[in-house]
Amino acid sequence: MLKEIETRQSIRRYVSREIPEAVLKTLLRAAMNAPSARNEQCWRFWVIRSRDRLDQISELSPYMKMMKSAPCCILVLADASAVLASEYMYYDCSAAIENLLIEAVHQGLGTCWCAIGPSLERIQNFKEAFSIPAPLVPISAVAVGYADEEKPLVDRYDETKIRFLD
Ligand SMILES: Cc1cc2nc3c(=O)[nH]c(=O)nc-3n(C[C@H](O)[C@H](O)[C@H](O)COP(=O)(O)O)c2cc1C
Repeated sequence: MLKEIETRQSIRRYVSREIPEAVLKTLLRAAMNAPSARNEQCWRFWVIRSRDRLDQISELSPYMKMMKSAPCCILVLADASAVLASEYMYYDCSAAIENLLIEAVHQGLGTCWCAIGPSLERIQNFKEAFSIPAPLVPISAVAVGYADEEKPLVDRYDETKIRFLD
């Protein structure tokens, strides 16, 4: 297995250290290299680094408190006008996010993927807080930064979840 896949974990405490812009662009390049239905690439990325806005996100959901210490949040949005079937937006953005998480490990960074959609209430909260115009739909907020915590690695391989249909 790739070391980055094996060692990726959700990080919820970060040190106060900025991420070089070139590194952020590498993460976004990895994200945009993901597969997408009909190659529609409906993902859009808003990079949020202002302390006020990061603190604001930490208040928008009880599950996003880690944004308080994160130096960066990548807001992943889907452009609903770029897809033929809206159901695929979540697949496409999730593939992009996972690429971003794995590349972040490669760059020595920690991340935490936080869902916004499909909760209509959370979508609305983010739309209002960030003046997100239609047809953009906020899908997830990803905290990114240098980790300030260490967690034991867990091997989740479970044979009972596999069936070989030969
Ligand atoms: C779609 C999705 C939504 C998630 N939302 C949150 C969230 O709102 N807040 C949070 O702290 N973690 C969130 N997580 C992270 C999961 O809690 C985490 O991946 C899971 O507990 C496994 O831990 P690991 O990432 O360290 O392997 C989310 C993960 C996914 C894939």
